[in-house]
This record gives sequence, C-alpha cells and structure tokens, in this order.
Amino acid sequence: MSNSIGIVILAAGKGTRMKIDTPKALVQALGKPLLDFVVDASLEFAHSSSLTAEIGVVVGHKKVMLEAWWNDHEKKSSLKLAWQKEQNGTADALKACFNDLPHFWNHTYTLVACADTPLISAAEFKQLFTELTSHPDYLGVAATFETSRPTGYGRIVQGESGFHIVEEKDATDSERKITEVNSGFYILKTAHVKAVLGSISNQNKSGEFYLTDLFQDKFKVKSVKFPSETPFLGINTLEQLSGVHDLLQAKKMKSLFAEGVQFLNASTTYVEQDVKIGVGTLVYPGVSLIGKTHIGQNVIIESGCFIKNSDIKDGAEILANSHLEESVVHMGASIGPMARLRPGADIGAEAKVGNFVEIKKSKLGAGAKVSHLSYVGDADIGENSNIGCGFITCNFDGANKHKTKIGKNTFIGSDCQMIAPVEIGDDAFVAAGSTITKNVPNGGFGIARSQQVVKEGAAKRFLKTKKS
Ligand code: UD1
Ligand code: CA
Repeated sequence: MSNSIGIVILAAGKGTRMKIDTPKALVQALGKPLLDFVVDASLEFAHSSSLTAEIGVVVGHKKVMLEAWWNDHEKKSSLKLAWQKEQNGTADALKACFNDLPHFWNHTYTLVACADTPLISAAEFKQLFTELTSHPDYLGVAATFETSRPTGYGRIVQGESGFHIVEEKDATDSERKITEVNSGFYILKTAHVKAVLGSISNQNKSGEFYLTDLFQDKFKVKSVKFPSETPFLGINTLEQLSGVHDLLQAKKMKSLFAEGVQFLNASTTYVEQDVKIGVGTLVYPGVSLIGKTHIGQNVIIESGCFIKNSDIKDGAEILANSHLEESVVHMGASIGPMARLRPGADIGAEAKVGNFVEIKKSKLGAGAKVSHLSYVGDADIGENSNIGCGFITCNFDGANKHKTKIGKNTFIGSDCQMIAPVEIGDDAFVAAGSTITKNVPNGGFGIARSQQVVKEGAAKRFLKTKKS
C-alpha cells in the first residue's frame, strides 16, 4: 500500500483579538478566506508528492458558517469537517478530528496546520516532509524559526534525543529568552500521535491540552529550522491581517511578473489570489482584478478598469474606466473606454463595445459592434451586425423582462428602440430613429417614425406667432 497523509487544519479557534464577527478562518485576504490559502497549499503539496492525501478541517466557533463554506467549496470532495465542541486547546482539536474522522488513524503520516497562516506554501510542507522521511527513525518534525520577537510563540527547548516546546505562559525567565520558536506546523507518524495524544494532560497555566506535548526530549523528534518567519506569519489582529495582505499581494504580483505579465505600476494594481493572467498581457496603473477572473494572453487592460469574475480571452482590449462583472469577452474583442458589462454579457470575437455602452445578459456575435451610448439587455445580436449610436432594448415592461433578437449582418440605425419581445432577422435594416414594436424578417427594412413635413418659408411666420 502506498503511503498516505492526513492533513489536519485547526480552525476551531475564536480569533477573539480580531474583534469582528466572522470566524478568523473565514476572514478574507485577496478575495479569499484565510483557510483557503492553507487548503490550496495542502492540496498542492499532496499532488506534488507521491502521497494520497485527505484534508480534515477542525471547526468549532461559528461552526455553521464553516459548514456553509465547506458546502459551497469547489474542492469539497477533498475536504472533511470535524467538530471540536469546546476549544480546549490544540491537542483537543486534533483529538476531535480523530473522533469524527477515525479513518484518519489509517494514514501513515499526519500533518497539522493552522488556518490563519495564508503565506504558507507547498514548499514548506515539502521540506518538512522530506526531513521526516529521510530519517526513518524520526517520529515527528516541527517547523521552527528564529525571531528577535518571540513573544507569544512556544519556545523550542532542545533535549538529549528530541526537544520540547514551552508555551509563553509556562516558560521560565531563561526559557523566554530562547529565540527559536514553534510555527505550529508539524508532520508526525500517525502511530506516534496515536501512542501519545490520549495521554496529553492540561496541567499547565492555560488549563488547555497542548499539541506541542507530542514533542518531548525522550522521543526521536526533530525541530526543522526555517530561514524565515514569513511563511508562518499568523493573523491575530486586523492590523496583522493588513500587513499579511500586503505581503500576499506582493507575492501574487511577483508570480505574475515571473509568468510574463506586465504591470506598468504594480503598487496601484489590485489582483486577487485566484486571478489568472496569460503571458504578454499588459496592465496599466489603477486596475482591479477580482475573484475568479481569467485573463488570456496579450490582453491590454487600461487604467481604471474593474473586472470581477470575468473571462477575457487572448488579444482582447479593455479600454480605460470600464466595469466588467461575470462577463465573457472573446478573442480580439474591444471594450470601452467607459463601458459596462453586467453579468451574462458575452462579447464575441473581434466584436466592439464602445463608450457609454451597458450590456446585460446579452450575447454579441463575432464582429458585432455597439459603439456608442447604448443599453443592450436580454438580447442576442448576430455576427457582424452594426448597432448605431443611442440604441436601447426596452426589455422591461414594468413587470417582466423580454428578449430582443437581432440576426447577423443587420444594420440598426442610430437612436432606435426595440420594444421587447421583438425579433429582427439577418441582413435586415432598421432606419434611424425607429421605435420597433413588430418583427422584421430576414432581409427586411423596418422604419417606425412619423413622416417629416417641410413648409417653405414658414420659419419666420412660426416665430411671429410665438412672439405675438
Ligand atoms: C500555538 C502553539 C505555539 C506556537 C503557535 C504558533 C500550542 C499549545 N501552542 O499557540 O507553540 O508557537 O501556535 O502560532 O499549540 N485551535 C483550535 N482549537 C483550540 C485551540 C486552537 O482549533 O481549542 C486552532 C486555532 O484556531 C488556530 C490554531 O489552533 O488555528 C492555533 O491556535 P492558537 O490559539 O493560535 O495557538 P497559539 O496560542 O498561538
Ligand atoms: Ca496563533
């Protein structure tokens, strides 16, 4: 049987010092719950190693909210929840996991991680795991680091064979001076956890069951010292969240630069964690890329654009000050400046949406153009059709929404309104200034405006009647 690992993420704590209602694990950074950063790092580590892995998340405080998080999670199948009823310490939290998920005892290894450390990556897990497995006699390893400000961390006290960890509260004055501290990340042989976990007591200053007691001088356990504290930075306060947020953003930008994305001013650009951007894309200053936005290769995004949960394909350009949400922009299309794509906008390849155009729940075929000052809602516009300036789909009758359908290669003159539901065929023509209430067939010409009357020399007479 191949080796397997149970990854246990401790997320039951209250996060009292955050002062806010949201449980700490679900507080967001770069548009994503803190817990998800740890889940992603864990899954990446599992995939990159030859281990079968399973993630158990120990929840407690505001359990209902974490259940909702789990329920909506796209990686739900890799995640299991365990419930720690009372927050009696980190060892008690791990016990809760084995109680609710007893098959976790079958995993060869157990990895313990905290939920509030979004800078952690698969690399740290990998290094820790390599350290454990390259010494067959080791029972467990703990990630540690040196810090000039050890306050709040458990101190690493080296012993004969292994080492032990003393919590701040329980430390003697000389132990407090130790600068090697516990990160709270461990990988252990599950057999060792099984042998020791049940015997951990809460006879300490906090009256809590300390998971750190899995490490004792008499055991063959090792501390693995990492060169930097950064990957293990935990968040306890909103101020720390802000600091970590900046580090996460810098890390995200660094990885995008390395992938060949050009930001003209990275410090004024906000890019959330799950955003993907292809090589050769150029992003001007002052752009926000939000949620699950995917940008293709060689895209240009000008200043002031806000793009949320949208899919922008290769070679498209999003010109200055455009606002896009849940939209798809196909290859080579051009949006803006100052355009708004609302949810459900689907803009075809090489199509054009110009300034002051709003598009909602509508499809524009390849090469179609809506270049100026228009509202397109609940509409389907065929390939290569040209919609003139000031076009409006009157899609809402005060009670219900209705569809407008315009075929391909059709020309709609300026200042037309479509009183939906209405259909215009392919290769049709609608004269400027028309209020269209009836369908126009393929190749048809639609005109709906009153006849013009011209009266020779009448201008002066008209003015006179006004003045008298
Ligand atoms: C813990 C370590 C400490 C280490 C520090 C690193 C212990 C006893 N101490 O201390 O040596 O330096 O992390 O940050 O483990 N949690 C639960 N249930 C509980 C208590 C905590 O799920 O009953 C979770 C928390 O949500 C958090 C994690 O465990 O994700 C760590 O808990 P926290 O209270 O922050 O531990 P520290 O006191 O910081
Ligand atoms: Ca902590």
